[in-house]
Amino acid sequence: MNFTNHFLLFMLQFILVLGCAANPGVQLEIQDKYVVLDNGIVQVTIANPEGYVTGIQYNGVDNLLEVISNETDRGYWDMVWDEGGNKTTAKGKKGKGRFERMETTNLEVVVENEEQVELSFTRIWNASLEGKIAPLNIDKRFILLRGSSGFYTYAIYEHLKEWPAFDLDNTRIVFKLRKDKFHYMVVADNRRRFMPLPDDREEGRGQILDYPEAVLLVNPVEPEFKGEVDDKYEYSIESRNNRVHGWISTNSFEPTGFWLITPSPEFRSAGPLKQYMASHVGPYSLSVFHSTHYSGLDLIMKFGPNEPWKKVFGPMFIYLNSLSNGENPITLWKDAKKQLVDEAESWPYTFPASKELLSSKQRGKVQGRLLVQDRYIKDASIPVSGGYVGLASPGNAGSWQRESKGYQFWTTTDDKGYFSIINIRPGNYNLYSWVIGYIGDYKYGSIINITSGSNINVGELVYEPPRDGPTLWEIGIPDRTAAEFYVPDPNPKYINKLYVNHPDKFRQYGLWERYADLYPKEDLVYTVGLSDFRKDWFFAQVSRKKENNTYQATTWKINFNLDHVDTIGTYKLRVALASIHYADLQVRINNAEANPPLFSSGQIGSDNAIARHGIHGLYWLFNIEVQGNLLVKGNNTLFLTQPINTSPFQGILYDYIRLEGPSMDQTYG
Ligand SMILES: *[C@@H]1O[C@H](CO)[C@@H](O)[C@H](O)[C@H]1NC(C)=O
Ligand SMILES: *[C@@H]1O[C@H](CO)[C@@H](O)[C@H](O)[C@H]1NC(C)=O
Ligand SMILES: *[C@@H]1O[C@H](CO)[C@@H](O)[C@H](O)[C@H]1NC(C)=O
Ligand SMILES: *[C@@H]1O[C@H](CO)[C@@H](O)[C@H](O)[C@H]1NC(C)=O
Ligand SMILES: *[C@@H]1O[C@H](CO)[C@@H](O)[C@H](O)[C@H]1NC(C)=O
Ligand SMILES: *[C@@H]1O[C@H](CO)[C@@H](O)[C@H](O)[C@H]1NC(C)=O
Repeated sequence: MNFTNHFLLFMLQFILVLGCAANPGVQLEIQDKYVVLDNGIVQVTIANPEGYVTGIQYNGVDNLLEVISNETDRGYWDMVWDEGGNKTTAKGKKGKGRFERMETTNLEVVVENEEQVELSFTRIWNASLEGKIAPLNIDKRFILLRGSSGFYTYAIYEHLKEWPAFDLDNTRIVFKLRKDKFHYMVVADNRRRFMPLPDDREEGRGQILDYPEAVLLVNPVEPEFKGEVDDKYEYSIESRNNRVHGWISTNSFEPTGFWLITPSPEFRSAGPLKQYMASHVGPYSLSVFHSTHYSGLDLIMKFGPNEPWKKVFGPMFIYLNSLSNGENPITLWKDAKKQLVDEAESWPYTFPASKELLSSKQRGKVQGRLLVQDRYIKDASIPVSGGYVGLASPGNAGSWQRESKGYQFWTTTDDKGYFSIINIRPGNYNLYSWVIGYIGDYKYGSIINITSGSNINVGELVYEPPRDGPTLWEIGIPDRTAAEFYVPDPNPKYINKLYVNHPDKFRQYGLWERYADLYPKEDLVYTVGLSDFRKDWFFAQVSRKKENNTYQATTWKINFNLDHVDTIGTYKLRVALASIHYADLQVRINNAEANPPLFSSGQIGSDNAIARHGIHGLYWLFNIEVQGNLLVKGNNTLFLTQPINTSPFQGILYDYIRLEGPSMDQTYG
């Protein structure tokens, strides 16, 4: 670096220091019906004592939130809940639940100084409120720091011991932005676009498709969107990637960005693969902490009548940025990603006042190394690169994908298999893992008890995935998705232009109906050795739509040839599913009519991943014994039947199928 650069750097630092010093202290003004937080960069107005964000003033714009909406409907925490287990499930299918905006009744200023203001909006539950609001104490917090271009929010939910049973289906924070300003949405580097207006979804401009969320834009305000489908589920994000998303206002003199930043996903339900709603037409930005989306009824959080529980959701950072005239607005997205890195580096935050948010010192660490051993591939155990390793509440292997009351802490292994999970809250956990390329779920044998400051080294862990014998044939890649299979082009009438020539082709609307177009009469037949799963295995086994709007059950066939059959041996069929929705997987071999079938899952699943373009929902693995006497030397056929055909969205997303020969260790007479 030469002198000039040194000098410039010095000047720059000097200006930055000056800039910081010039930031005024945080001001708090408590009015009759509102409180106003102001640090000279952003001004946040919150309804007192209900705890709704009614205004966000920034960069010369009076309010970034939708000013034409009711003040209760701009920036808020909400939940969907229901009375305890037996009351709702007695009727069989669950109702829609009750929606509430977690309105609070009391404001307390917990920190007020020049550097920081933190507000606590609370409501205390008692028996007179039974059946009216969820039996929870709620403490919603808002923090504004000096010099910060945004604000933080988190909330503490608490269910006390003698309180009634209840179900929590969904909880999140919502920001509804001004539709006259925010038109460009970003949910990922390769998922960003100008979006239609909410008006375009209304009658006359939009036409509802197979469900109300999916609308064909027939007469949008801006003609460029005509003929596209708008459906919020096309913009959902897996938890592992749900760290920053938002909107850019491009039409003002100075482009402005509004971003929801998740510094740590530890409080989100169900682990790294769980898919959540994010930003979508409205313009809305949501941070969902818990939901049944892409998982179904298994993800309803059920509390018994005597079940104490407390959990902190957040903090989230609501980040605002802007550019001076002329710069490319996408710079705002790049800056928001940089801000995420900064927020994640300062996690766990030290500034929030609640003792429920534990500091780094109060948390613990687990490290080790992950290897995998599949002796039909390689004798030795080999280190796993990119394997997922996580701590979640104690349970069975794989239970993390249905777990929601606790916190989860996940990482991936480096290229030598080493992992280190830091900042784990004290408590008892199991250590879980899964690895792309192998079926099944790993669980470390003993409970891991994390205490403040603990640093546990679990050493070398060896995952031995389910395996009894050599691979005779396999279809797909064990990666918990159906993405590697044949995903058809959408019907040209139902396009989202974003996903044309895009790796996430599966996010297009209406792909389930393409099955009937491609297989109008005969179902899919796959011949081992001749077929290619990338081209010949339709990504979803759905029912076939008939002209009269009924649906026909389907049976897929896998033809395979065996040179030799061990008639007294036991073969093993591994069927891994990426999703199943109100469907029954039936397996038969060499007899399409066999009754009972060799295997039937019974009707299972409610993750709705097919209708919601998810490419996966919950993961299932079935290990099916096949007695050698069912097989013949020469051609065999495996039949996969899905007999339930009451809706187009019922069906199965396969992840991977494998037939294993008898164990080479088995000896016979
Ligand atoms: C705003 O919403 C609240 C709660 O739903 C309702 O009571 C109130 O009447 C609404 N106000 C306006 C102006 O629509
Ligand atoms: C129960 O809560 C309601 C609503 O906040 C309040 O009006 C009432 O005084 C409370 N009752 C008791 C016994 O604390
Ligand atoms: C539901 O009913 C069963 C059987 O009566 C009972 O054991 C259980 O505690 C009840 N669950 C809840 C959440 O009330
Ligand atoms: C976990 O450790 C704490 C502190 O040592 C101890 O009090 C607690 O009993 C332990 N829990 C279990 C299940 O071992
Ligand atoms: C619909 O058509 C299918 C064959 O195309 C037929 O089997 C079925 O009975 C028809 N259903 C009704 C309700 O007409
Ligand atoms: C076995 O299947 C193969 C591939 O489908 C076919 O070419 C062959 O004719 C079949 N053989 C017999 C004996 O059916």
